[in-house]
Amino acid sequence: MATDVWTGVEEVPHVRLGQTADLVFVAPATADLLARAACGLADDLLTNTLLAARCPVVFAPAMHTEMWEHPATQANVAALRSRGAIVLEPAVGRLTGPDTGKGRLPEPAELLETARRVLARGGLEADLTGRHVVVSAGGTREPIDPVRFIGNRSSGLQGYALARTAVARGARVTLVAANVALPDPAGADVVPVGTAEEMREAVLKAAGSADAVVMAAAVADFRPAEYRESKIKKSESAGPAPIELVRNPDILAELGRTRRPGQVIVGFAAETDDVLANGREKLARKGCDLLVVNQVGPDLAFGRPDNAAVVLAADGEPIEVPRGPKEALADVIWDQVAARLDRPATRR
Ligand code: CTP
Repeated sequence: MATDVWTGVEEVPHVRLGQTADLVFVAPATADLLARAACGLADDLLTNTLLAARCPVVFAPAMHTEMWEHPATQANVAALRSRGAIVLEPAVGRLTGPDTGKGRLPEPAELLETARRVLARGGLEADLTGRHVVVSAGGTREPIDPVRFIGNRSSGLQGYALARTAVARGARVTLVAANVALPDPAGADVVPVGTAEEMREAVLKAAGSADAVVMAAAVADFRPAEYRESKIKKSESAGPAPIELVRNPDILAELGRTRRPGQVIVGFAAETDDVLANGREKLARKGCDLLVVNQVGPDLAFGRPDNAAVVLAADGEPIEVPRGPKEALADVIWDQVAARLDRPATRR
């Protein structure tokens, strides 16, 4: 442990630590520290280390909401990001004192996972720095009555892996999560939703400023035409009560139609039969740039930590991704997104 620049001066700790580090991870990063780092001050061991470091640098800010939202802090964050640092978005929750809001330090286990992911990139640059990406995850639930819903088996693992890997590549991430029972990935802005309509609203709102949108969520195609305020009783009718269904909006197709110039749109397709033919047809029909096709079945994809897929592109050859961790598939998807973002940019 080192705490000051004057202990062991002969070893020149004020530069040696930064020079030899594989990763500098500042948690918690206060508003004051962000300001000092943005200005390049070097009046203690930490700021000296930050100036000397040539490895990836990650800041995990933690402060009260007002301080995080202050234009001075936001300008400092923007300056650090423009120089390649990864500045995580704070979590939302209980702060020091009775207030709650954005500014909380993410869970330590999630911070560790971010550090692991940044190191796993083996010194590759944070190629999504300065980009805003939107990821949808989980499965929508369409309520029938207060106790029942129409849902699906999506666990949200693939969407969360996409969010984690995008954070580790420097992106500002909005994660629209439908009914996911997983810890919030450190550094992502998590927007919880329930139904397809709620997901549509949240995704379209976030997409307004996004460079890329990845629809990994399983969205219910239909919802009950009518929500019953009281629990449906089996005594209501002699036989099974029919539930009339209506179509939900297709969010991915809407994104394909309404995208900003240069915005990259990625869909997923869960198929049980004719996987590639159905995928190609879906890619064209929904107007996306990339479609990640995976075969689903009783033991495939849902709820498992691994996945295998084919990434179809509107403008290139299919890429087969062998079975492996969902993070590995996520990185292949971001490689493809990043390659397309380099073309005529959509910078704000
Ligand atoms: N999707 C969406 N909105 C919907 C349904 C699906 O945005 N109402 C998105 C999913 O997030 C996914 C992609 O569309 O990225 C493919 O979803 P899928 O259910 O496989 O496609 P469908 O349009 O339902 O086609 P089909 O029922 O013919 O398989």
